[in-house]
Amino acid sequence: MFSIDHLGIAVKSLAASKAFYEQLGLRVESEEVIEHEKVRVAMLPVGESRIELLEATADDSPIARFLAKRGEGLHHISLRVADLEGTVERMKQSGTRFVSDEIKIGAGGHRYVFVHPASAGGVLLELCEG
Ligand code: CO
Repeated sequence: MFSIDHLGIAVKSLAASKAFYEQLGLRVESEEVIEHEKVRVAMLPVGESRIELLEATADDSPIARFLAKRGEGLHHISLRVADLEGTVERMKQSGTRFVSDEIKIGAGGHRYVFVHPASAGGVLLELCEG
């Protein structure tokens, strides 16, 4: 029932990064701008999962801040869950911190929320429902 929906990777240049993965033989399935996150996202299927390449569209984008602090690299892991509301509610009751309180709509129209790394062993963990 659970699966790793995607691995989010912060990149400086979406074009350069896409070219790298295309060289490997992967293909870009979709590309879109998520306005409220200030990112341009390219999705590349890898078996049942995907690689999500994230490029900042503004200097105050969370991805721009990540790149400034940590450089390019793995940004988050996204787990697909069957019941997002129920899962979030249960986790909140046991004290889990979330990056934002509300569930948002992201790439491909999927609903998602981020668990704060302080509650997830230093990992930025996205929960999504697809
Ligand atoms: Co993601």
